[in-house]
This record gives sequence, structure tokens and C-alpha cells, in this order.
Amino acid sequence: MAKSKVTVVGAGNVGGTTAQRLAERNYSDVVLVDIVEGLPQGKALDILESGPVLGFDAVVTGTNDYADTAGSDIVVITSGSPRKPGMSRDDLLKTNQDIVSSVTEQVVEHSPESIIVVVANPLDAMCHVTLETSGFPRERVVGMAGILDTARYRTFIAEEAGASVRDVFALVLGGHGDTMVPLPSMATVGGVSITELLPEDRVEEIVQRTRQGGAEIVDHMGTSAFYAPSAAVVEMVDAILLDQKRILPCAAYLQGEYGLNDLFVGVPVKLGAAGVEEVIELDLTEPEMHDLNNSADSVRELVEVLNG
Ligand code: NAI
Ligand code: 2OP
Repeated sequence: MAKSKVTVVGAGNVGGTTAQRLAERNYSDVVLVDIVEGLPQGKALDILESGPVLGFDAVVTGTNDYADTAGSDIVVITSGSPRKPGMSRDDLLKTNQDIVSSVTEQVVEHSPESIIVVVANPLDAMCHVTLETSGFPRERVVGMAGILDTARYRTFIAEEAGASVRDVFALVLGGHGDTMVPLPSMATVGGVSITELLPEDRVEEIVQRTRQGGAEIVDHMGTSAFYAPSAAVVEMVDAILLDQKRILPCAAYLQGEYGLNDLFVGVPVKLGAAGVEEVIELDLTEPEMHDLNNSADSVRELVEVLNG
């Protein structure tokens, strides 16, 4: 059987670490693409040369040419510009819209059957750009954010409870921004709800810290996170390539689910070989639905700027 092929577009921090983690999985060949000449080639060769030590033999290729990405099973889009001084949020939105749409066109030309995992920010809006540009069915365009936001939430809960993160289950829904919806009602430590385990004010602080999780990292090091984001991407690639049918929070295009239409929002989905195989509809309380709608409204505002 031919090995699978995963392309990672953008050889920056998230793209480079994603390519590294995928190569170490050793279940697919990996192609790393960037517009900067030399960068993907250098990083790919460096990753490839770790194979003899780590014991993987996946082929890792760096390129500026989409012909090398042909026939990819999965394409991860991490190419995007960070916000620069003087740039408004809307300017950044337009800049990344241009990058993501031109990347998507080239991806689709060479890998028309692929599943695209979008990472570039603003995440939910960039999912729209990819879906519209690609013309793919909604099953084959999915955004990474919920797993990362949930991982941060789980980390903070475990710290507070003095328990292993492995025994913390939690869920963050909504858009990837300040309005995201970490759900205290669904968060448990060893099966016990955090609303019983932790004081209310501590839960509220954890929820707020989760919402600011990306900014907290930027404040520390002046650039955005990449270790946890790449780990989250790889969990999605695992689920798709290995047809794991995992239920994971991802940005999915909703068509009626949760009462939302034609909008990418973070919700639990079943991820398998066909991509988003099912959107899982949770029975949310009224305040939770209110928060989810509020978060969906902010995604809708961004999408309107895209179309403006
Ligand atoms: P980075 O600046 O390190 O890397 C971006 C790379 O994209 C650069 O190497 C750049 O040359 C490349 N690029 C730009 N235009 C391109 C084009 N047209 N074609 C191919 N490559 C192109 O940025 P980093 O830290 O890797 O972040 C990448 C994106 O992912 C950003 O938009 C960031 O905000 C987003 N992000 C999203 C997360 C999420 O939860 N969804 C988490 C972390 C980052
Ligand atoms: C993060 O949440 C910046 O979206 C990125 O770390």
C-alpha cells in the first residue's frame, strides 16, 4: 500500500513543528511548502536527518512548488501573516484572506480529493475562505482551534485540581477568539464535575485564562504559540488518516446544527477518513447556547468583512 501523503503549507513555527511531529509519526510522507525560498527545504532536510536517530523513514520534502504536493491526502494550511504594527484586525483579515485563498487554489489544483485542515488566523474566517475557494464539500474543510483551546482549559483545570491532565475531560466550543465558550458543565476531573470540585470564582478565572490562552503565550515570548497548536493539528491528522472516528472539538461548517447556518463554529465533530463525518449536537443549557450564539455572531461579523 502506498504511504499516505500530508502537505503542510507554511514552514513557520506552526508548520515546521507540525511537519516534525508528522514525520515522527512515520505513517505518511510529509511535504512542507512556503513562499520563502530555502526555508521549507532547510527545515524538511533537518527533520529528515533526525530520522536515523529517532527511527522513522517517512520522506520529508521541502518545496516552493505545489507540483510536489500532488495527490496529498491531507493539507494543513498554516500560512498566514502575523499582525504588524499599524495594521487593523480587518487589514490582517484581508491580508490572510489573500494568502489563504491563493494557497487553497493551488492545493485544490494538485490535490482535488484532499481534506484541508485550516490553521491560519483568524481561524473561523479563514475556514470560510478555504471552503469557498476550494468548492469542497463541508466534510473536507475543517479548522483547528477547539482542540488547542480545550487543551489549555484542561491544563489549567488539572493544575488547579492537582490532578493529571489525562484525567481531565473538558470542552471548548465557539469561535477561536475572546468569545470562545469553555463549558464548566462538561468539565470533569476523574468523572467529577469541576463545578463540584472547584470554587466558582476559580472556575471563572480558569475560563477567562482559557479565553486569553493565545495572548498569554504572545505576552511571554512576543510570538504566538506553536508546540500545543501543532500537537492539536496532529491529533486531527491522526483521526483522519487512521480513520479513528474521534469526537473532537473542531471548526465545522454548520448547516442548521445548534440553530446556526452557513457558519464555521467550533463544535464537537466525528473525525474520520471522510473528514467531518458528523456534527455532534450537545444538549446545551440556555446560558451556554446564549454564549455560543454570541461567539457565532463575532465569527459572522468577520465573515461579513471578508465579503465586503
Ligand atoms: P509564522 O510567521 O512562523 O509562519 C507563517 C509562514 O507562512 C511563514 O513561513 C511565511 O513565509 C508563510 N507564508 C506566508 N504567505 C505564504 C504563502 N502565500 N504561501 C506559502 N507560505 C506562506 O507563523 P506561525 O506562528 O507558524 O502561525 C501561522 C498561522 O497560524 C498564523 O496565522 C497564526 O495566527 C495561526 N495560528 C493559529 C492557531 C489556531 O489555533 N488555529 C494556533 C497558532 C497559530
Ligand atoms: C493561539 O491561540 C494565536 O491562535 C493562536 O495561540
